[in-house]
Amino acid sequence: MCQGLSAPSPPCSALLSFTLLLLLLSVVGPVSAWRPWPQSNKMNISDYAFGDSKKYEGSSEFVKLRYHMGPVLTTNITVHTIWYGKWERSQKKIIREFINSISAANSPHPSVAGWWRTVQLYTDQTGANISKSVRLGEEKNDRFYSHGKSLTRLSIQSVIKSAITGKTRPLPINPRSGLYLLLTADDVYVQDFCTSVCGFHYFTFPSLVGYTLPYAWVGNSAKFCPGQCAYPFSVPAYIPNRKPFKSPNGDVGVDGMISVIGHEMAELATNPLANAWYAGQDPSFPVEIADLCEGIYGTGGGGSYTGQVFDARDGATYNMNGIRRKFLVQWLWSHVLNYCTGPNALDH
Ligand SMILES: *[C@@H]1O[C@H](CO)[C@@H](O)[C@H](O)[C@H]1NC(C)=O
Ligand SMILES: *[C@@H]1O[C@H](CO)[C@@H](O)[C@H](O)[C@H]1NC(C)=O
Ligand SMILES: *[C@@H]1O[C@H](CO)[C@@H](O)[C@H](O)[C@H]1NC(C)=O
Repeated sequence: MCQGLSAPSPPCSALLSFTLLLLLLSVVGPVSAWRPWPQSNKMNISDYAFGDSKKYEGSSEFVKLRYHMGPVLTTNITVHTIWYGKWERSQKKIIREFINSISAANSPHPSVAGWWRTVQLYTDQTGANISKSVRLGEEKNDRFYSHGKSLTRLSIQSVIKSAITGKTRPLPINPRSGLYLLLTADDVYVQDFCTSVCGFHYFTFPSLVGYTLPYAWVGNSAKFCPGQCAYPFSVPAYIPNRKPFKSPNGDVGVDGMISVIGHEMAELATNPLANAWYAGQDPSFPVEIADLCEGIYGTGGGGSYTGQVFDARDGATYNMNGIRRKFLVQWLWSHVLNYCTGPNALDH
């Protein structure tokens, strides 16, 4: 039907453009990642802004996620955590259990392990897949804010340097399979936090730190901007008539961090040195596998709608099961399916 380029009859061309529109919507729809950033704060990516958990400015461009030949994390991943500032034991526990859930074999479906399976689909140039095994490594407490309560992208590297060179129990140096996770308490401000990012990942510079170590930073937004970084467990004032969802582990800031931690870990694993899996022309503004699906937690998600998720018995909202707990974690881009997916997808 409607073959050939020579002047199709009007109904035919209308049908054609309608079909094209549908096609465009179905491709662009799941890609319009969303977070409730304040409208007045247009994103301004500063130097060293890579792999941010940020709003993807989805346009009519088709997504061309490409592999740029760099390494991905194919060997067993060990997460070394730096707790910066004051953290409650209960908060640490939620985050540790989320990370432990990634490789847990027997959480009920839909599981965090099922969510990580999308990450495992990505390979390096030898065809080696990203590791299924993610485990917690050593931890470091930076209780007394060694670099103050306001960090820049560069001072973050100094925090990591202190953690790996400290006199007492320094973190192991593990450039090939280590993932350094810096988590800042709710009274710590980090450059661009709340105005354009909730977390980001990059790697340390040998000139500053002595090694090239892939790291991610995620901040607890509970005091500064839960409406942006812990959405939908908190809703900014400018979105009226919308009730926040109840968070699954009773801590809005930390439950909001879980999805950002998942976002950064998935991107770090697939693009640890900013030269592996990303879309877009410019490696300094990469659009990575989680950017493409930000704000999408279930089938039909997009814009401010999370998609189809579940209600727990206590009324909390979640979309996947981990060890002993439930979590709400954003979906990821599958280059096999060519759309965003997660373990709770209805077409699975
Ligand atoms: C954006 O970044 C540029 C370069 O760093 C800076 O000159 C400019 O003032 C920034 N704009 C805003 C709105 O922050
Ligand atoms: C990787 O992890 C798996 C499962 O945790 C384990 O069986 C295997 O021995 C590990 N491999 C290496 C090289 O450490
Ligand atoms: C490894 O990646 C390939 C290509 O995406 C995929 O077909 C295969 O299922 C992956 N293997 C695992 C264990 O995920």
